[in-house]
Amino acid sequence: MSEDTPVSVTMEKDGDVAVIIVNNPPVNALSWHVRQGLEDNFAAALGDDSVKAIVLRCAGATFIAGADISEFGKPPRGPDFNAVLNSIEAASKPVIAAIHGTALGGGLETALVCHYRIAVPSAKLGVPEVKLGLLPGAGGTQRLPRVVGVEAAATMTSTGDPLPAAKAKELGLVDELAGEESLAADAIAFARAKIADGPRPTRERRVFGDVAVIEQLKTANAKRWRGFEAPYANLACVEAATRLPFDEGLAFEREQFMKLMFGSQSAAQRHIFFAERQAAKIDGLPKDTQLRDVKKVGVIGAGTMGGGISMNFLQKGIPVTIVEMQQDALDRGVGVIRKNYDASAAKGRFKPEQVDQMMGILTPTLSLDDLADCDLIIEAVYENMDVKKDIFGKLDKIAKPGAILASNTSYLDIDEIATATSRPGDVLGMHFFSPANVMKLLEVVRGEKTAPDALATAMAIGKKIGKVAVVAGVCDGFIGNRMLKPRQIEAMNLLMEGATPAQVDKVHVEFGMPMGPFQMSDLAGVDIGWHRDPNRIESIRDALCAEGRWGQKKQAGFSDYDHKRQPSESARVAELIEEYRTKAGTQKREISDQEIIERTLYPMVNEGALILAEGKAQRASDIDVVWIYGYGWPVYRGGPMFWAGLEGTDKIVAALEKHGFEIAPLLKEKADAKSGF
Ligand code: 3HC
Repeated sequence: MSEDTPVSVTMEKDGDVAVIIVNNPPVNALSWHVRQGLEDNFAAALGDDSVKAIVLRCAGATFIAGADISEFGKPPRGPDFNAVLNSIEAASKPVIAAIHGTALGGGLETALVCHYRIAVPSAKLGVPEVKLGLLPGAGGTQRLPRVVGVEAAATMTSTGDPLPAAKAKELGLVDELAGEESLAADAIAFARAKIADGPRPTRERRVFGDVAVIEQLKTANAKRWRGFEAPYANLACVEAATRLPFDEGLAFEREQFMKLMFGSQSAAQRHIFFAERQAAKIDGLPKDTQLRDVKKVGVIGAGTMGGGISMNFLQKGIPVTIVEMQQDALDRGVGVIRKNYDASAAKGRFKPEQVDQMMGILTPTLSLDDLADCDLIIEAVYENMDVKKDIFGKLDKIAKPGAILASNTSYLDIDEIATATSRPGDVLGMHFFSPANVMKLLEVVRGEKTAPDALATAMAIGKKIGKVAVVAGVCDGFIGNRMLKPRQIEAMNLLMEGATPAQVDKVHVEFGMPMGPFQMSDLAGVDIGWHRDPNRIESIRDALCAEGRWGQKKQAGFSDYDHKRQPSESARVAELIEEYRTKAGTQKREISDQEIIERTLYPMVNEGALILAEGKAQRASDIDVVWIYGYGWPVYRGGPMFWAGLEGTDKIVAALEKHGFEIAPLLKEKADAKSGF
């Protein structure tokens, strides 16, 4: 060990049992010095004749939560992980993993080379590598089928979902459950009891179970895994375990792991892992910023958004007062919340009594005055500046001092809304995405005068209700919708020039988006923002709206829809486009799929560069997080700004110039430097 090696692994002795303790906060990741410490301490314990059994446990909040992801893609340092694990497995004395918190990825792989496992009931065990575009690369795919069988191993590796300790015990992954508070002592006693049995190397156990599950998993998850490489690679490794000797299986796993590790999908997914955590950090916030207490929430508007927003808080046990103008609208809104919860309960997501509890802390009212005791008030009425200013003016008089006043606007100027109050420091945007109880993104809009503690509190409450919150600056559409705009404009232009809605949508779906621009428009409503004058036809959209083709709700939009909302290409829309094209004197031509990418996705990168340069997003990775969690950008492409780096910013600029776009200076800068964001 050299002088600059942090001491993150130590050893204690309890009679004839050596206890090796990993201490590498915050999550005991297997950094190079931990691997070094494991190697050194196991060698010491094995070399000590007075030691008859070895316990491996962790200090702090959790057992080892995996490899150190921040080391990936960097030059190797310290001992090879597989070599360390193989030597632990080969130990001549029984080795017991004592698990609390989460044993994840490389952490579970470490536990799997231990000969026995004991865990507290609250522990969780899993191999989430697939969520990073990877597979367990230290024997996990080969050892798991030998311990839990092919079915559980295939499910665990391909979904990445962890198991609670009790389930792990049922499957044989955990040998014994310890007391929640007595893991250290219970593990030592368990180790002592295993001295007579001796080591039990996992590699010597036989794979069991039915390999048919692998094809079943592929079929069941075909939609969810569309475009992803890692779930399939995980399954290929588990399948290999069923027919190859252990060492050959390990070599196969290694080969597959390296392929994923150096591929773009895992790079993108690792980027998003850190981007998501980074997004929670607010630039320029004073260190001593204290959060405000949020014990009660008010929501104005019981429509789709207001109802969805309320559900987030009710689910976390935070009481909500919901306000509407009319009794029937209020009743309808509350009824929808109840119906949604009942539907979830029917699927087993909640117990019926939980639904009653949640509904029990919802207070419907027709009076804004009832919001006087709320710590956070979210306005979710329709998008009209005058209406919003009127509400905020009233709130100014009603809300208690220090209450946060938030608007769910998706594009209006928060600073202007704040002028309706005498307390602009308390005003900010909390832009939820529909359906608000499901979508994970929350744009927290920082006004010019928003107080640091109000902002920090909104971000924290976002996290508490399970959202990924991102700070956005005030501008038309904030981060997400602002970038959507150039995409939608170009998609329409492409129709004029000869593309069909189906072609544009197909290119986007093949790219990995859940739907294309026209499918999205049909879903949201083609008539949103329409001037409502059927005689005023200035665009293809006006022509559609004039005929009542308002989207899925009318079974007709850019596509036709049957009763099951299945789309088909519309001859009428083709006609309308043709008519409008003739009227505008535009020549029809063949549009390539590549041109659709260049004119709908590249302009988003351009807009993202403007947003970044204007400081409306704190960092490029925040923009990526917005698009992944708010719009379903495929995570394996890492968000638009990360993808720009993969695609080549120089290539993007060249194409945008060719199509006549004005290039954002920051994008040009990146292209000249041939770098990403
Ligand atoms: N490597 C490096 N840093 C990690 C890490 C890891 N495996 N896991 C977490 N961190 C960091 C986070 O980036 C964060 O850093 P920050 O404070 O600077 O932002 C900090 O640890 C705390 O993480 P969270 O905010 O996520 O803390 P939570 O308490 O909410 O969650 C957790 C803890 C459940 C362990 C969660 O962090 C997690 O899921 N981690 C990733 C687990 C994982 O994917 N393991 C597999 C790694 S790949 C592998 O093992 C390959 C092997 O097969 C060869």
